[in-house]
Amino acid sequence: MELANRHILLGVTGGVAAFKACELARELQRRGATVQVAMTEAATRFIAPVTFQALTGRPVFTDQWDARIDNNMAHIELSRQADVVLVAPATADFMAKLAHGLADDLLSTLCLARNVPLLVAPAMNREMWAAAPTRRNVEQLRRDGVGILGPDSGDQACGETGMGRMLEPEDLVEDVIAALAPKPLAGRRVLITAGPTFEPIDPVRGITNLSSGKMGFAIARACRQAGADVMLVAGPTGLPTPRGVRRVDVRTAREMHQAVMGELGAVGSATYARSDVFIAVAAVADWRVANVSSSKLKKTADGAPPALEFVQNPDILAEVAARSDAPWCVGFAAESEDLEKNGQEKRLRKGVPLLVANIGHATFGRDDNELLLIDDRGMQLLARAGKDDLARDLVGQIGRRLPAGAG
Ligand code: C5P
Repeated sequence: MELANRHILLGVTGGVAAFKACELARELQRRGATVQVAMTEAATRFIAPVTFQALTGRPVFTDQWDARIDNNMAHIELSRQADVVLVAPATADFMAKLAHGLADDLLSTLCLARNVPLLVAPAMNREMWAAAPTRRNVEQLRRDGVGILGPDSGDQACGETGMGRMLEPEDLVEDVIAALAPKPLAGRRVLITAGPTFEPIDPVRGITNLSSGKMGFAIARACRQAGADVMLVAGPTGLPTPRGVRRVDVRTAREMHQAVMGELGAVGSATYARSDVFIAVAAVADWRVANVSSSKLKKTADGAPPALEFVQNPDILAEVAARSDAPWCVGFAAESEDLEKNGQEKRLRKGVPLLVANIGHATFGRDDNELLLIDDRGMQLLARAGKDDLARDLVGQIGRRLPAGAG
């Protein structure tokens, strides 16, 4: 669980989005965190403290004069127990207080007294969000190192539509996990391919493989959590885009090739931001049908099967690795036998510093996997685990191997 052993101080201020904080408290706990709620007086007009107490199993604090804390310094006690303070929803008024260092109630005082990161999830009417004082306060909070999560654009409780909706609880949880994660890829640009490709035979048929895209998507998510700017080129999958990741969908190997080369730009081009790392996780079809039929193939009277001809697809990874401005490349190999030997051979053939071998039929579509990392120093096994856990380990390993300023 990604938030195991994490203690989160959840501050709730007085906006109608306070109802979403109930779901947020549950979701944080579901991921392993303990949650301590502190509310402003205004928040208690929207949700009763007893609701949060029941959801978190802990008494809720609203009053800076609360006598339940032994030394009567709730603002110090509560903030010292936390790994992070998350204020959701954060009203315009509360953000103004934070920006100016006001401390006239328990929550604002503990935000000022904290020695851990502060994240705020704004929630307000669109005009309040756009108002000049709010703009100034948000800018000031950013400069002060406060993480601003959202807001989103959409329908608002007041009946208007626009920017100012609080992020949904699951998005906030993703941002909290990312905020607490180590940052081995801070400031790096990472390009990832994932999923299968689909090579058409005729307008309704094609050739594909059993890759689900789960490993590649998990790696994209882990790279973003590790601080990278991530671009994901995805073959056909039904998977949702990991939060904070840019994505292009493609179908065929040639489309994938084009998307990757488009992202990298012409060799040496000064107008493109260079990718530092390329991780080729996609199970790209080695061949495509050369004689694709423009109409649906029909059975013939003599029962003869269609004569399909094949032509080889471009090897995206090998081509990227061979560029003079190549990013640091990571290849994947789905083998069915002799992982070590085949993996090492493939690493050298593709010309990549790191090759990750896995057993094809033991990973496709599954939620767990086992990875063998092969580089010029030897092998390292990442034992069977969930793909999110493995992705995080792998990204840590990439960060350790990446030369400073690589790319
Ligand atoms: O040669 P093989 O397909 O086994 O190599 C697997 C590795 O090469 C994976 O990283 C895969 O994403 C990449 N690859 C590619 N373009 C291809 C075939 C494979 O980028 N046409």
